[in-house]
Amino acid sequence: MKITKICCIGAGYVGGPTMAVIAKKNPHIKVTIVDINAERIAAWNDKDLSKLPIYEPGLAEIVEETRGKNLFFSTEIDETIKESEMIFISVNTPTKTYGKGKGMAADLKYVELCARNIAEVATTDKIVVEKSTLPVRTAQAIKSILHNTGSDVNFSILSNPEFLAEGTAVQDLLNPDRVLIGGESEEAIESLANVYGSWVSQDRILRTNVWSSELSKLTANAFLAQRISSINAISELCEHTEANVNEVAKAIGMDSRIGPKFLNASIGFGGSCFQKDILNLVYIARSYNLQAVADYWEQVIILNDHQKRRFSDHLISTLYNTVSGKKIAMLGWAFKKDTNDTRESAAIYVADHLLNEQANIAVYDPKVNGKKVQADLNYLNTRTEEENMELVQSFNDPYEVTNDAHAVAIMTEWDEFKTYDWKKIYNQMKKPAFIFDGRNILNKEEMTKIGFEYSSIGQ
Ligand code: UDX
Ligand code: ADP
Repeated sequence: MKITKICCIGAGYVGGPTMAVIAKKNPHIKVTIVDINAERIAAWNDKDLSKLPIYEPGLAEIVEETRGKNLFFSTEIDETIKESEMIFISVNTPTKTYGKGKGMAADLKYVELCARNIAEVATTDKIVVEKSTLPVRTAQAIKSILHNTGSDVNFSILSNPEFLAEGTAVQDLLNPDRVLIGGESEEAIESLANVYGSWVSQDRILRTNVWSSELSKLTANAFLAQRISSINAISELCEHTEANVNEVAKAIGMDSRIGPKFLNASIGFGGSCFQKDILNLVYIARSYNLQAVADYWEQVIILNDHQKRRFSDHLISTLYNTVSGKKIAMLGWAFKKDTNDTRESAAIYVADHLLNEQANIAVYDPKVNGKKVQADLNYLNTRTEEENMELVQSFNDPYEVTNDAHAVAIMTEWDEFKTYDWKKIYNQMKKPAFIFDGRNILNKEEMTKIGFEYSSIGQ
């Protein structure tokens, strides 16, 4: 099928950047991103590019170049579905918060609604591409919904998982290690391969069956997360043995079979994918009664939760076993640098632990505002909105947030944190002044020389 118009349902962290790059590289295709959230669409259409709902290095430039030419943001979902030959489903698939599979299985409510929406309004043949991270066999469910419409419309379903990482999304999209397309219809697969073929060489475009494609995404994320839990497990051992986790990571990373990436010990991984995907894997394994497989992958999450808890416990015990009424300055709230996304960020959980101990939390993140910080804490439902408001304050400046603080906790590895005047920060903090470097980004010797009581992960 010749593709002249693409519709993407869901203007989020995946849909936005992916479609912007597809539009940039395919000027002959009209790409429209639709969303039920009118506020979000308005933000994507804002003349002021700093107001785009998603912060990604390089994204604003591409949006500026393509918006209004062949990239459009709209709330006209039905019309856009109708006119497009290819429809990407790129909506959120959070972990279920109710009923069967609560806390484990993906909530496919939004995906199902999209499929029903497409089935209802389509009058011509469509290629439907699942882009959201989904459990294995979701394509089957989409297919069954689409094929039971009673109309003559023919739907081909493809799985095309997204491997972009936030913070480097544009680069990952422009230079992907691979593009994966799973499907039954060769013609549909080739149509999508041609869209990517505008800038990705054909040998990097893998064609598989639908289930392999879906499972590959979960497996890739599980392997990546496993590396972090593995090095984080070693970080705890390092702290007890005076080995240095950075040195260990470097030494093992030079083994070409292991490789150097994803070996940074940290406060624990966050983000919308890792935990959710592993939980999906565990849930699927359990549903087939594969207990050993399920337990094996679940341990990656257990270790990650342990790492977050260990960080807050260490902070509390170092501050003489009480943080009650003490000001703890958190630098960073996003789950990693170069993004404004805070989903599953370790900072949220560490803050929650400290708040249980009646700490006063002061937050500064270069891209996350105070409203978001409050919303993240309220979502946990541990305490009332009023209590969160009272105990947690956000600042727009690193020197204000650290003023009179008892301790600084580094939660995100933002580059700018390394450039601060740490002497100035030291001078305005309560003494002894503590730094808990959850990302190992500061130099221990330098910080100790200034006078800080410095501790980091696995050193
Ligand atoms: C991940 C996958 O990398 C991507 O391919 C997939 O499409 C979506 O999920 P993302 O969650 O955006 O991407 O970020 P990623 O860079 O993988 O980082 C995830 C978390 O792991 C972050 O909290 C990060 O700080 C942490 N991390 C990463 C570490 O703690 N140590 C590392 O060495 C690497
Ligand atoms: P992701 O990281 O997967 O991109 P986001 O939450 O950032 O997730 O984005 C998903 C988007 O999908 C949200 O903006 C949400 O409003 C949108 N969405 C969810 N369900 C629907 C639907 N049925 N129709 C249109 N948009 C939807």
